[in-house]
Amino acid sequence: MSSPDVLLLEKIHPDAEEAFVDAGLSVGRCDKSLSGNDLLSAIDGVRFLGLRSKSRVNADVLIAAHSLEAIGCFCIGTNQVDLDAAAAGGTAVFNSPFSNTRSVAEMTLSEIIALHRRLFDRSMQLHNGQWNKSAAGAHEVRGRTVGIVGYGHIGSQVSVLAEALGMRVLFYDVLPRMALGNAQPCKSLVELLQKSDVVTMHVPATPTTHHMIGADELSTMKTGASIINNARGTVVDLVALAQSINNGHIGGAALDVFPEEPGSNNDIFSCPLAGAPNVILTPHVGGSTEEAQSQIAMDVASKLTRFAATGTTTSSVNIPEVDLPVHHPEHSRILHFHRNVPGVLSSLHTIIANAGANIHAEYLQSQGDVSYVILDIDAVKDDVLAKQISELDETIRLRVL
Ligand code: NAI
Repeated sequence: MSSPDVLLLEKIHPDAEEAFVDAGLSVGRCDKSLSGNDLLSAIDGVRFLGLRSKSRVNADVLIAAHSLEAIGCFCIGTNQVDLDAAAAGGTAVFNSPFSNTRSVAEMTLSEIIALHRRLFDRSMQLHNGQWNKSAAGAHEVRGRTVGIVGYGHIGSQVSVLAEALGMRVLFYDVLPRMALGNAQPCKSLVELLQKSDVVTMHVPATPTTHHMIGADELSTMKTGASIINNARGTVVDLVALAQSINNGHIGGAALDVFPEEPGSNNDIFSCPLAGAPNVILTPHVGGSTEEAQSQIAMDVASKLTRFAATGTTTSSVNIPEVDLPVHHPEHSRILHFHRNVPGVLSSLHTIIANAGANIHAEYLQSQGDVSYVILDIDAVKDDVLAKQISELDETIRLRVL
């Protein structure tokens, strides 16, 4: 039986399969994650591999998988793939870093309201048989101030949604960012902390954001203000936060991410905030919705199908990015990954000239040791030209469309 063009692992959303079939590619599925030899035998003859976070694609697999042209990580992270080994073999890797933006922003909004109303404490009390009907400590969010730290994809969406609820929006970012609606930038983190009723973190994990919110920052916040971290677990110092909540200065918190997160649903979780009042803990589900899964499926599938049809590598995480138009039907397109050393273009031009073909367009990008050149030339009818290019010492991978 012949191999499918695309193999999708780990129960990738069915919208991806539909997109591949629409693009004329055959699809195989395996619901499990695969690694090592199991993965290698499953991808024999497969051109495109789709996976999520559990499969592992190491250098041994990449070196042996000659037919593999690209890998789609149907998730945010790409550390399950050896990116350098993939680049060295001319295998493009794509992911979907921003498809769950809206999901995180909506969860953040729900938490802003829930913290203002102490909803989780009220619910837990009722689960335990305690009827505690009281307005004490419960607030509307209308007219309150939300401080957004990191005004990127998610932070700016939170800004728009919070304003729709009648909140005043402040933000702080290290880069100049266009303020949406009536949001106002703060000159410093301290200014934002001093003025906000609820602070929500939307920065990446970097050395400068490590424990960006610690004891000093928490003491700078208003008494009774709350803090939300749906970004990365290293951003907030949880020991300092637990102290600040237990001594009554910080009024509540919502945390979706933790410095150490369990590797599986069977592992035990512990955290200094467990049992603290008005604290919402969620198991890193901010971006986990069916809508986000569908958007990730469509996003990664469209990157792979464009790569298949035109050679476009825009937003690849490991190889040079080239955005290409559809080529003329009477031309051939040469997609050539090669070692980034002098003289390769000249060799290609000579081979093409000797074949009597004219070059109509040429695109080149290099990144590290790998270069990617695309040549649109007069259609070639035999395999001689492709064979000669394949045999160049510098060739990593060749595809002719
Ligand atoms: P983004 O890259 O679009 O925005 C991040 C913003 O933070 C940028 O504007 C950047 O300039 C700013 N920034 C970086 N360092 C800063 C600093 N030291 N001080 C102030 N601003 C700083 O990222 P996006 O997509 O908005 O994601 C934000 C965070 O959310 C990331 O940490 C991401 O990993 C996390 N995330 C969490 C999810 C979850 O399930 N809880 C799902 C998706 C993303």
